[in-house]
Amino acid sequence: MSKKFKIFTYGCQMNRYDTETITGYLEAEGYEETESNESADLILLNTCSIRDKAEQKVYSQIGRLDKLKKTNPALKVGVCGCFATRDGEAIAKRGKAVDLVFGTQNIAKLPMLLEEMEERRVVDTEPIAPDFTELAPMVRGGGLNAFVSIARGCDNFCTFCVVPYTRGPEWSKPSELIVDEVERAVEEGFREVTLLGQNVNSYGRKSPGELTFGGLMRRLNDVNGLERIRFMTSHPKDCDEDMVDAMGESPKVCEHLHLPVQSGADAVLARMERGYTAEEYLEKVSLFRERVKDGVLTSDVIIGFPGERDEDFERTLRVLREARYDNIYMFKYSPRPGTPAFDMEDTLPEEVLTERFEEASRVQREMTESLHAELVGGVQEVMVEGAVKPRSAPAGCAGCPDFADESDSNWFAGRSRGNHRVQLYAEGFTPEPGDVVEVKIMRGGIHSLAGVSPPSAVVMEEGE
Ligand code: SAH
Ligand code: SF4
Ligand code: F3S
Repeated sequence: MSKKFKIFTYGCQMNRYDTETITGYLEAEGYEETESNESADLILLNTCSIRDKAEQKVYSQIGRLDKLKKTNPALKVGVCGCFATRDGEAIAKRGKAVDLVFGTQNIAKLPMLLEEMEERRVVDTEPIAPDFTELAPMVRGGGLNAFVSIARGCDNFCTFCVVPYTRGPEWSKPSELIVDEVERAVEEGFREVTLLGQNVNSYGRKSPGELTFGGLMRRLNDVNGLERIRFMTSHPKDCDEDMVDAMGESPKVCEHLHLPVQSGADAVLARMERGYTAEEYLEKVSLFRERVKDGVLTSDVIIGFPGERDEDFERTLRVLREARYDNIYMFKYSPRPGTPAFDMEDTLPEEVLTERFEEASRVQREMTESLHAELVGGVQEVMVEGAVKPRSAPAGCAGCPDFADESDSNWFAGRSRGNHRVQLYAEGFTPEPGDVVEVKIMRGGIHSLAGVSPPSAVVMEEGE
């Protein structure tokens, strides 16, 4: 009988991509995925280390698995991902249940490590060079979107960030291999890809003769059967005209740019070693607005970096207003041992962090509300993901058909090109997942838009 495994994934898309690769290796070794902890022979935790909370979550999960192992001594427990890479030995020491620790940069060794694990406890986080001669086995999750990693690691060493330590130096995957991977995903039925890298804009710069990121997008725009291309994350210091133009000119590349600013104050940006000033950042925003029609911009902001003064925080609020972000991910600064910022003075008390966090949330909320209100009356191209239950359909959608009747199943949900979640009422037709339809927006909520799709609204049917 084949062995069963279960993986818990924490953190960002990069970890979700790694989980798909790990699943590929495990299935190639004859393992089969299971839903329940109780029936698993192997449980893996694919961990994140970005903030302290992320690490604490892993320890409490290991505690639970310690208990499970008492009732099922044959169970093997593995820990991988960013936290494992950073602190593998400490995890193995603290978690008695842990049989295997491996890193983000030696996943390809997994078949060998699994064998070793049968004999003894294994902790191996030693990086190996990526094999860029062929695609790793992958078992992708469901849905319409496939993640495709285009680069591994990060060379930027922003002073607050663990990623360069957990994922090592930047390596760009050769573009031919990326094209193969995207084509394979399309053959498997995916309609959309999200290109992943910590800094997609520096793609290829260390590989002589390689395409630029703009060039890569143009190349992927030619892949038949692919409908949409997304990407993240863009680093403002490397975001250039070539990339913005490629976005504007390639019909399959969606008009959504995630361009994390982190702070709006030059003094803070300098201590973060981000490599740009607020003004330079806003120039990139203007370039994006100018070249990409109907562009949607999002960002990450860190609140309360050491030494952030009131006036620095005010500058961040100013950038939120000027950049006109559709949405932002906001984080209270979390000191990470081993990073340069960890030893910086003038850390701020929690009350100040909370106060600033709430104020910035208010400012952003107003911005999101006003931008979404502007979308009402317009038309969005939406890729349908599936039906939504009538009860979860939007309230307050002026002009939307009444759908209180539970037998009315003509409500669907999907994503706009700008990555808004859209709920749509299909008038007299039933779209399939993967269809692209036009939706007249009737309601611009904070978290999702809603509207109606007339029968003539089908732009593209799945498989065309
Ligand atoms: N490569 C991406 C970010 C990856 S981490 C970039 O350069 O933008 C995702 C986000 O987590 C970061 O953008 C940052 O806003 C946040 N983050 C990273 N380290 C953090 C820390 N120590 N405390 C709080 N937030 C942090
Ligand atoms: Fe971290 Fe900076 Fe690299 Fe992003 S670019 S992963 S924030 S070091
Ligand atoms: Fe991602 Fe967390 Fe690692 S955000 S890169 S999984 S530290």
